[in-house]
Amino acid sequence: MSKLQLEKKIRAIDRDIDKLRIRTKDSKDLKSLEGVFDTSTLKTLYHLANKGYIEALGGVISTGKEANVYHARGRDREVAIKIYRIAASDFRAMQSYIIGDPRFKNMKHDKRSIVFTWTKKELRNLKKAHAAGVRVPEPFVSRNNVLLMEFIGNNETPVQQIRVVPLTPDQAQDAFDTTIDYIKKLYLENLVHADLSEFNILLNGSEVVFIDMGQSVTLDHPNAMKFLTRDIHNTIRFFRRRGVTADENQIMNLITG
Ligand SMILES: Nc1ncnc2c1ncn2[C@@H]1O[C@H](COP(=O)(O)OP(=O)(O)O)[C@@H](O)[C@H]1O
Ligand SMILES: [Mg+2]
Repeated sequence: MSKLQLEKKIRAIDRDIDKLRIRTKDSKDLKSLEGVFDTSTLKTLYHLANKGYIEALGGVISTGKEANVYHARGRDREVAIKIYRIAASDFRAMQSYIIGDPRFKNMKHDKRSIVFTWTKKELRNLKKAHAAGVRVPEPFVSRNNVLLMEFIGNNETPVQQIRVVPLTPDQAQDAFDTTIDYIKKLYLENLVHADLSEFNILLNGSEVVFIDMGQSVTLDHPNAMKFLTRDIHNTIRFFRRRGVTADENQIMNLITG
């Protein structure tokens, strides 16, 4: 398959997946998954279905730049499946410089390993955050480019990102305090979220949930403090518009002090 065909196929996935309701138990139905996911992702999903983690694949929750998130039914609970795309757009520009260069003929393999490592990293970061007492989707298992975690929501309806939830000043203040507390808890466990914003915080009633931790770094990362500063900046910027006043330096001291 050419690159163009592959791209087309991926776009078709994004368009059509929400129409699909596939019972992975039934091998006939599984057949129809071919042509939706690439073969390797399909194998990974088969494996997870065989292990009993997935009983039925539901609709799409989100199509992002690097990953799509799906709802699924597990044996006794709803689960969220994050599938990193192997042909993610981040690698596209890189590829155009590399194709045809014999030094990079193993590029395809490298690209896959990078994505697989990234997926595993998100699982580990979520585990670490969970252990630190930060409310995150409980991570269950990862395999290759597929991450299975607790579904934050009910009856196939995911909880909303905080950016679209109307908040009274009091609710905003509470959510802000919890967010800062979580940033501190992560920091004490040697972790910085590194992509914190109103897009990666869900609000379930009054419950704040951090998500999307593939890019999170430990404090020994050279940019850790820069990322922490940015996380705090984004947090304060968002909550300021919801009536919360806070000083960035003061919050930074509160977290690192
Ligand atoms: N465990 C989950 N439960 C419910 N919804 C989720 C879950 N994980 C992600 N989502 C939804 O999917 C969106 C994208 O997930 P995210 O991990 O942020 O991926 P991306 O890298 O594409 O930003 C989130 O903003 C959220 O709305
Ligand atoms: Mg996100």
